[in-house]
Amino acid sequence: MTVHHVGYLVRYLERAAKTFEALGYVPQGDVTRDESRKVDILFMENGDTVIELVSPYAADSAVGSLSKRIGSAPYHICYETDEIEKEISRLTASGYVLTQEAMPAPAIGGRRVAFLLNPAIGLIELVEKQAQR
Ligand code: NI
Repeated sequence: MTVHHVGYLVRYLERAAKTFEALGYVPQGDVTRDESRKVDILFMENGDTVIELVSPYAADSAVGSLSKRIGSAPYHICYETDEIEKEISRLTASGYVLTQEAMPAPAIGGRRVAFLLNPAIGLIELVEKQAQR
């Protein structure tokens, strides 16, 4: 699988975006509010490298407690796959724990994403290459 993006948890989205602009990143589109996870999301790119800024906007956000614990920091690497269900089965059989089932993500055109945790390396995300029709 190829790396799609690195996810950064950030406390203040605008400030983080400005800070990444100084490193050569430019925004891909606008900020998207993901109401199911209670986060604001902005993708940015620098050549072939894509980052995702994720900022909780409510205390009960899916990443609210993580944000309190680690502040602003990278927290997942996302891999792109043609067959998300098959990859989830393969990875859970080899020690990964599914923490979020595959579900459509509004910030990435409705493509399904899933999150898996492995104590040896932390959190990863899978994103399917094409949205399901
Ligand atoms: Ni991500």
